[in-house]
Amino acid sequence: MLALTNIGHLVTNDPSIGNGPLGIINNAGLVADDEGKIVWCGPQDQIDQYTDAKPIDCDGCAVIPGFVDSHTHIVFAGDRSAEFEARMEGIPYAAGGIQSTMMATRAASDELLSLNAQHLAYEALCSGTTTLEVKSGYGLSVKDEERSLRIARSLTTETTFLGAHLYPTDVKQEEYVDLVVGEMLNACLPHAKWIDVFCDRGAFDVDQSREILKAGAKAGLGTRIHANQLQKGGGVQLGVELGVASCDHCTHLSEKDIEALSSANKTTVATLLPAAELCTRSPFPHARHMIEQGVTVALATDCNPGSSYTTSMPFVMSLAVILMGMTPDQALWSSTQGGAQALRRTDIGNLCAGSRADLVVLDAPSHIHLAYRPGVNQTRAVVRGGKCVVGAL
Ligand code: NIG
Ligand code: FE
Repeated sequence: MLALTNIGHLVTNDPSIGNGPLGIINNAGLVADDEGKIVWCGPQDQIDQYTDAKPIDCDGCAVIPGFVDSHTHIVFAGDRSAEFEARMEGIPYAAGGIQSTMMATRAASDELLSLNAQHLAYEALCSGTTTLEVKSGYGLSVKDEERSLRIARSLTTETTFLGAHLYPTDVKQEEYVDLVVGEMLNACLPHAKWIDVFCDRGAFDVDQSREILKAGAKAGLGTRIHANQLQKGGGVQLGVELGVASCDHCTHLSEKDIEALSSANKTTVATLLPAAELCTRSPFPHARHMIEQGVTVALATDCNPGSSYTTSMPFVMSLAVILMGMTPDQALWSSTQGGAQALRRTDIGNLCAGSRADLVVLDAPSHIHLAYRPGVNQTRAVVRGGKCVVGAL
């Protein structure tokens, strides 16, 4: 049982129980049961009707749903800071850097890979991420993809098979797609919920991506796609054609791509990853324009050693607001409910009765401070499944 009171500003993401699109309740209370599910949230003077326990006083702080980071690549070994340094001196980002992480990942022990991933998952949790999607994609052999997914599965149920991240140099290109859709898919299946493909310049083309995603779907996996990160191309259109849960990156979009995403807004989310644009010095997609055109937008970190080495969803929100034209409300929604939608989950990303009690108590009076104070840790406590797992209440 968890009971909170004196929440100055509670974001529920349920417009039917609070004000505006975020369903905000001021001077609120919240009660969760022993199973870690929300029983009630509403005006604090009603809390006695829902619990006998003495509620914990939140000192007027803001409370928001836990962040849902629906796109990470945290199972890897090695260091690419030299590549980052070279990029800052003018060498452009290219897909090929994945190869160096692949070599370090293959050479690492299970223990090291696992510890590195655990460390990053904990870092994410400390900044308020209560649900994390984790991809494979730095093994690129049957054995190393399987173990990457096994490690990912020890951290989250939202695991994604990304054997089609890049062609490894030790397999002939014409044989690799067959391996991915055959032996590799079979080996990874027990640990994966999703399948993803890097459909872009230097990686997989549209036809190969279609074949890989269809094979994954046939085997029972949900589908998602890395699309239009490095250039305009057919990735987004393919994602919409196949009804994937999410087209991710969307850095280079034509108006036709935006129309396609908008027509598919009930099925396919556009997941924007502004830290990747920041760290690769790429142009930012205009999120506000996409939302105005009817696209459902999620925000995620893309945490990986090459293009975006951050676990911080609050930092991503700052970028989305300051550099991609999103309002603070839109950024909060996209980092919570948007991420949940990108993972096709209804039990997270909101603080409605029946949902998981995953939430963040902020050292701030409102969610606006998340974007307003870039790079500042404002997490007072993180609650997951009704239990305080970071900080103190
Ligand atoms: O999402 N685009 C493909 N994959 C990662 C980057 C991988 C890397 O550079 O290691 C991304 O940005
Ligand atoms: Fe990615």
